[in-house]
Amino acid sequence: MLHATIIGTGRYVPNNIMTNEDLAKLVDTSNEWIESRTGIKERRITTSENTSDLAYQAGSRALISSGLEASEIDLIICATITPDSFMPSVACMVQGRLGASKAAAFDLNAACTGFVYALVTAQQFIESGMYKNILVIGADTNSKVLDWEDRSTCVLFGDGAGAVVLAASEQKKGIIAADLTSDGSKQSFLVCPAVPLANPYVRSAPEAFRPSIKMQGQEVFKFAVRSVMDNIKTVLKKAGCEAEDIKYIIPHQANRRIIEHVAKCCDISLDKFFINLDKYGNTSSGSIGIALVEMVEENLLQQGDKIILVGFGGGMTSAGVLLEWS
Ligand code: ACO
Repeated sequence: MLHATIIGTGRYVPNNIMTNEDLAKLVDTSNEWIESRTGIKERRITTSENTSDLAYQAGSRALISSGLEASEIDLIICATITPDSFMPSVACMVQGRLGASKAAAFDLNAACTGFVYALVTAQQFIESGMYKNILVIGADTNSKVLDWEDRSTCVLFGDGAGAVVLAASEQKKGIIAADLTSDGSKQSFLVCPAVPLANPYVRSAPEAFRPSIKMQGQEVFKFAVRSVMDNIKTVLKKAGCEAEDIKYIIPHQANRRIIEHVAKCCDISLDKFFINLDKYGNTSSGSIGIALVEMVEENLLQQGDKIILVGFGGGMTSAGVLLEWS
């Protein structure tokens, strides 16, 4: 049986740092409010790069770290909710820029859970034997879909991308267990509309229409805590593991209080949860990949370590994977 293992990692965030103090000059908020409610101190906000630029940078770094040539990549999957365009996909734009001439490419939307959904999608292609090397990217430029006058949302998000190269291995390591869930009945908790209907039969939208994220914060909080707990328990059970067997949990980086609640409710030490949202805010599809790459950069992961990646997001969606680091 073939297994999907991570052989390369890369991340990219824009250079421009926006601190909580900077935000307090734009909307009626304060560093104290943002940090105490969310744990976020600053985030990266693009001044020129779009999602495909972030995705390309993260993807090319993952490719270099894998030691593969672009021509050896069979498939590129980009998880994003903020593509540059309806078409081409971000994945196709990255494929063209990388010169990954052999690769199929498509985008996937599972909101902030997208990176985990993309990993599990790639795992299926590898375990079936269809593809050997797959570039998985999570990238979002949330700043272009924020209402910069709405203090309840604009303080939460940032821009960034994380990427991994997954490769087929004969050894039983890499992704061991996965759990994908969604609940469309809760879709109103977190929304960002696309273009409204406009054709000869439907009245045109106002010219100035600009989509932005709207959120029912407390409902998202409750959903996140419950779904992350369920995903963790499910992947542990599927893998035949106990919480003690897990070295680290890498949760979607939305809000420190959500992570603290999960740790408490699951009776797992908070020390096991990797948190870097203080520096980047919520980068949606980018967040788990960026966190994973930072852990690699900080030498926190050793061969044989079992880790869980777990995300939640609009849809509502949630997902977890348990993998053995190699
Ligand atoms: N600065 C100052 N005051 C603010 C701000 C702000 N940035 N935002 C809201 N407030 C005010 C509100 O206006 C309100 O004032 P009022 O009482 O005078 O009406 C007060 O703070 C409380 O507002 P709530 O929305 O009830 O704030 P809450 O305590 O729920 O905290 C938060 C908001 C932090 C978003 C919380 O609901 C939460 O943690 N939700 C989880 C959702 C989350 O983290 N989402 C991230 C993105 S989603 C994802 O990644 C899938």
